[in-house]
Amino acid sequence: MSLKTIYQNFVRPDIADMAPYTPIVPFDVLSKRLGIASENIIKLDANENPYGPSRRVYQALANETYYHIYPDPDSTSLRHALSQYTDIDANHIVVGHGADELIDLIIRLFIAPGDAVINCPPTFGMYRFDTELNGGSTINIERKADFSLDLDSIVALTHNASNPKIIFITSPNNPDGGTLDDACLRRLLELPLIVVLDEAYIEFAGRSRADWVLAYENLIVLRTFSKWAGLAGLRVGYGIFPQWILSHLLKIKQPYNVNLAGATAALASLSDVDYLRENVQKIVEERGRLYQALQEFDFLEPYPSEANFILSRVIERNAAELKAALAERGILIRYFDTPHLRDHVRISVGTPSQTSALLKTLSTL
Ligand SMILES: Cc1ncc(COP(=O)(O)O)c(C=O)c1O
Repeated sequence: MSLKTIYQNFVRPDIADMAPYTPIVPFDVLSKRLGIASENIIKLDANENPYGPSRRVYQALANETYYHIYPDPDSTSLRHALSQYTDIDANHIVVGHGADELIDLIIRLFIAPGDAVINCPPTFGMYRFDTELNGGSTINIERKADFSLDLDSIVALTHNASNPKIIFITSPNNPDGGTLDDACLRRLLELPLIVVLDEAYIEFAGRSRADWVLAYENLIVLRTFSKWAGLAGLRVGYGIFPQWILSHLLKIKQPYNVNLAGATAALASLSDVDYLRENVQKIVEERGRLYQALQEFDFLEPYPSEANFILSRVIERNAAELKAALAERGILIRYFDTPHLRDHVRISVGTPSQTSALLKTLSTL
């Protein structure tokens, strides 16, 4: 046996057998591949904010003078600003390198190899990814045809031998944009489960349930600056935790998980909330226009959404070809062909001119 083979056998067998993650093509590479300048690409495939960050973010990043010093491991100033923004005491808040990092940390905290997590597809893919990476097993309880939760099956599952520990619920859900109602959340919170409510898109939908964390010892609410504040590239998310969970989570968090640029940008965003809320409002209005316009195409069946994207079923057309034809013309959308979601496309809400360009192109296809 060669030395290299011996070394290769050191890789964890579950990771050696894992299919590689399909990488997202970087924007500049995509621009070269399509032969279209980056500024002419209309990127509606990743639910990013077309208005970008507040101007104060650029100023704050330019004025920051301590890039050579490690950042505050406790993100103290940011947590206090977040406390004002959310109206929750800073002692319940942890900041992460995106909400993605917090999903991974929560799973690491509770899931030992063999433990189970309830996932409700179609939904955000990272819950399953992180569960399996951490040796846990995912129990899928598929959403119903209208994308609401199958509550009866979830309840039944908690009574059988699989003993799931965590359930991840996204509201508004990615990819359909539907929300979870209060009664449903209450029912979930009565179960012997840690309930992680992912509110990545809540600013587009209305009221957050972050304050419910003060009343329930088994609820965690995740939020992010990626969507409403236009900071997806800087990776800042946060979670609202019951204190008993937070005390354990802090033991396993990397000390410098949030870099200084991200923390600085998030703080600057929180000093300009009114401006960012105007952008959110523009996106919400544009969502209404896009939804109405998509309904006019006889090959699309859009679903109502409370997030910054709209999912549509593609009828009597090939959804993959539709996506490819738009991409050739510089318009990127997300296409799904999974067992839970056949022939669907998800379109992020852009600026009015981006919507107009999309609609014009769709009408020629
Ligand atoms: C439901 C949901 N949660 C979390 C995230 C990731 O958030 P972050 O950019 O803060 O890691 C996304 C990103 O698309 C998402 O759709």
